[in-house]
Amino acid sequence: MRTIEIFDTTLRDGEQSPGVNLNTQEKVEIALQLERLGVTRIEAGFAAASPGDLRSVAEVARRVKHATVVSLARSTQNDIDKAYEALKDAKDACLHVFLATSPIHREYKLRMTKEQVIENAVAAVKHGKKYFSQIEFSAEDASRTEIEFLAEVAKAVIDAGATIFNIPDTVGYTTPKEYGNIFREMLVRVPGAEKIKLSCHCHDDLGMAVANSLAAIEGGATQVEGTINGIGERAGNVALEEVALALDTRKDIYQATTALNLQEIARTSKLVSRLTGMIIPGNKAVVGANAFAHESGIHQDGVLKHASTYEIIQAEKVGFKSKQLVMGKHSGRAAFKDKLNELGYTLEQAEIDKAFVAFKELCDKKKEVSDEDILALIDAKLVTE
Ligand code: KIV
Ligand code: ZN
Repeated sequence: MRTIEIFDTTLRDGEQSPGVNLNTQEKVEIALQLERLGVTRIEAGFAAASPGDLRSVAEVARRVKHATVVSLARSTQNDIDKAYEALKDAKDACLHVFLATSPIHREYKLRMTKEQVIENAVAAVKHGKKYFSQIEFSAEDASRTEIEFLAEVAKAVIDAGATIFNIPDTVGYTTPKEYGNIFREMLVRVPGAEKIKLSCHCHDDLGMAVANSLAAIEGGATQVEGTINGIGERAGNVALEEVALALDTRKDIYQATTALNLQEIARTSKLVSRLTGMIIPGNKAVVGANAFAHESGIHQDGVLKHASTYEIIQAEKVGFKSKQLVMGKHSGRAAFKDKLNELGYTLEQAEIDKAFVAFKELCDKKKEVSDEDILALIDAKLVTE
């Protein structure tokens, strides 16, 4: 069983979600919770982006004690110097330097030849080496880069001292089979690739970020990058909690796990949602309000008999209180009886039957029937009348 390292970029790529702007105190609060969650690396920001971001990265670097703190930097001396200024007090620091490698970016954005891209990337890693022992190099838009050129870039930056080679699917364009193969190719084409960390970084534009990250792991990735709740540019980054639970639930397939303290997932998710203002959709996997809720009578009856009938993850495992049976018109007698027990009633079967009729009448008037509604229903002596 392999342990996959988790690189959290909620505070950098996640903060690139439109409308999100975290202040230093908020970044520190999230970083300390990410540490409790057990991530390996925390990308605290992009120090050269603004004086405020530099201050935030520096404060996170001072406060975090167990995880490695990372700052993003373009492949320029100034950005790398700023990253060092922000990270110099960290217990453990990593520079994350990036440069686009795809033909589209080379031609339209960078206006650079392949040779210039390699020259720039190598110079950046060498400059970073003056300050950092850990350096991640990201080949931006790697998934749309010619495989031979990507391998050339990887070899050049590894020779220059990069310790992590990240292969981002920057625009969420790749597919699982294609992305997994890029990792396999790197391991075949790049001497020494097996000695460094190979990292995946997926965006969710086509809704394939989790599948692509899992395919990368199967292809040989040793680190997964993503954010909590999947926040990030456009359609977001891969949701780390989803990757972690997929690995944990299907160890039989992936033969890999993470060192995350899964019980901290609910707390981390709620904190990130509250501080970023990004609402978690009810049906979101692992952390949505409905992720452990059962509405249909058949499902409710099933989980009451044995949770495994309709639950592949127990709510408690990721830090939620317990499964929820949503009381509404689809609920059956078994769930209703269970709810009455939970509310402290032990009624005769005839009383339960009577109350159940009144409950169903109420369900036609209300989508969801709350505990208070049920208490009122019983207290109105519907049962004993
Ligand atoms: O998506 C991306 O390419 C990035 C890089 C800066 C790693 O976020
Ligand atoms: Zn990204």
